[in-house]
Amino acid sequence: MFRSYTNGELRLENVNQEVTLSGWVQKIRDKGFLIWVDLRDRYGITQLIFDQERTSDDLMEKARSLGREFVIQVKGTVIERASKNLNIPTGEIEILVSELTVLNSSEVPPFTIEDETDGGDELRMKYRYLDIRRKPVRDNLIFRSKVSMAVRNYLSKEGFIDVETPYLIKSTPEGARDFVVPSRMNKGQFYALPQSPQTFKQLLMVGGIDKYFQIVKCFRDEDLRADRQPEFTQIDCEMSFVEQEDILNVFEGLTRHLLKEINGVEVGAFPRMSYEEAMKTYGNDKPDIRFEMKFGELNDLAQNKGFGVFDSQELVVGIAVPGCAAYTRKQLDKLIDFVKKPQIGAKGLIWAKYNEDGSFKSSVDKFFTREDLTAWADRLGAKKGDLMLIMAGETDKTRTQLSVLRMEMAETLGLRKPDEFAPLWIVDFPLLEWDEESGRYHAMHHPFTSPKPEDIPLLESDPGKVRANAYDMVLNGNEIGGGSIRIYNKEMQSKMFDLLGFTKEEAKNQFGFLMNAFEYGAPPHGGIAFGLDRLVAIMAGEETIRDFIAFPKNNSGRDVMIDAPSFIDEEQLKELNLKLEL
Ligand code: AMO
Repeated sequence: MFRSYTNGELRLENVNQEVTLSGWVQKIRDKGFLIWVDLRDRYGITQLIFDQERTSDDLMEKARSLGREFVIQVKGTVIERASKNLNIPTGEIEILVSELTVLNSSEVPPFTIEDETDGGDELRMKYRYLDIRRKPVRDNLIFRSKVSMAVRNYLSKEGFIDVETPYLIKSTPEGARDFVVPSRMNKGQFYALPQSPQTFKQLLMVGGIDKYFQIVKCFRDEDLRADRQPEFTQIDCEMSFVEQEDILNVFEGLTRHLLKEINGVEVGAFPRMSYEEAMKTYGNDKPDIRFEMKFGELNDLAQNKGFGVFDSQELVVGIAVPGCAAYTRKQLDKLIDFVKKPQIGAKGLIWAKYNEDGSFKSSVDKFFTREDLTAWADRLGAKKGDLMLIMAGETDKTRTQLSVLRMEMAETLGLRKPDEFAPLWIVDFPLLEWDEESGRYHAMHHPFTSPKPEDIPLLESDPGKVRANAYDMVLNGNEIGGGSIRIYNKEMQSKMFDLLGFTKEEAKNQFGFLMNAFEYGAPPHGGIAFGLDRLVAIMAGEETIRDFIAFPKNNSGRDVMIDAPSFIDEEQLKELNLKLEL
């Protein structure tokens, strides 16, 4: 028996008990006649004591030979500590060691295995197995496991069946590039790794599965960001005989259950906002509604007053930042520099202070009267003491720029509280979006999304105006899930492929299997997929999903621990009929 207890378990009640413990050496403090060793495992830390008066010389020597991260087993007696550490659950006791076995020695680790480590990101990724020994990383993995277990239990109770779908498939167009896998047995041909199980889950509905879910890896060859990994995990779901309302209710239920069970937070009915309203009010389709600072459009109030910068623009729009009227010139200049950064690309920023004493001061006092600024304040909901920030330009661009500034201000003011949860649904997405580069429409969600029945006539006349039966779930300014009611009729699907610029041949080649399935009684169906990594990170009050993935990729898509991707040898290339040209 390697252990009779874990290192997180022993308390005062256990005093005088003989115990066996195993674990890693976290820390050694050698005072000469007394040696303390902190012994760590997944469950916690227990202090071991070697005491010259009570411990044999051999054992004292052996304890002295230990190093950090050695794996050891000890036998000993639980005793009450002379000086207690009430910060840890085992802090009132220690183990007076009578036997010590070194199970394995260890090199000196390249960074300290402590909550606050001295290791940089790359180093920690390279030795991820050591990083995982650190409590914050381990806690994140345990948290993730809790969330995914709760998801499984909930969905299973609701009658969903967990079905696995293949990883070696044919490309599904979800908008990103595919990772491909060459086939040895089929010369010159490639599988694609799924960007999502989209078509398979639809085929499961044709197969009568009715309620499907899967916690599943998805693969997308896209540029990485804090909330994106090339392989990530979805909670993928699909249901038959449902309308949008049914899906929203079921998955609002799931999310509410998770927040209650895991975070102990009760949230009310999720607000619903149309895509159009979200863009107009928050400048993006994943608004953080934990705080206000809603957009106010000022065209009618701010144009034609002699200020050329506003007059010539499509949109003049602003926000009221609470309590920032006292910003100094330096602070304002910093904000102006911020919006002018190339990543944001604004030409400038106009500010107007609504001072505590009721007066106004702005960067455009030459052009606007007190009445003008009062009207702006009304429109933006600015109160005394607030700072109004205004931008002007082409509508879409300006909204995006102001939305970045809104988030920046919220961050600065500490309004993005990690333990507050503000979920909402964004609905009524456009079905299609125009892509300037290719000069054609793209599916905003994916090509299997159904148009709103009342908008179907517009498919011919004004496709850009057609709204989809598509929805996203947004939590604290992050898109955590998205889905749609699907097309289940062959003619409509074929029309959709036409609109998206697929030739009949291409559509048949890529999606013949789905079109065929639609010939055999496809039920009305729809679904959603959550990004599990994102959901878990946000529930834990963070936004970097990498911290919640056991073995993540770095920003260049590399696994620096196993050193992948890597070259393969000539033999393997030959077998796959591939030739490299570098
Ligand atoms: P979608 O493409 O919106 O929909 O993806 C669903 C959710 O997956 C998460 N996600 C990601 N998470 C981490 N890294 C990535 N690279 C990444 N890409 C997406 C997001 C997103 O909301 N088949 C459809 C779902 C459906 O229609 O049912 C789909 O995949 O949280």
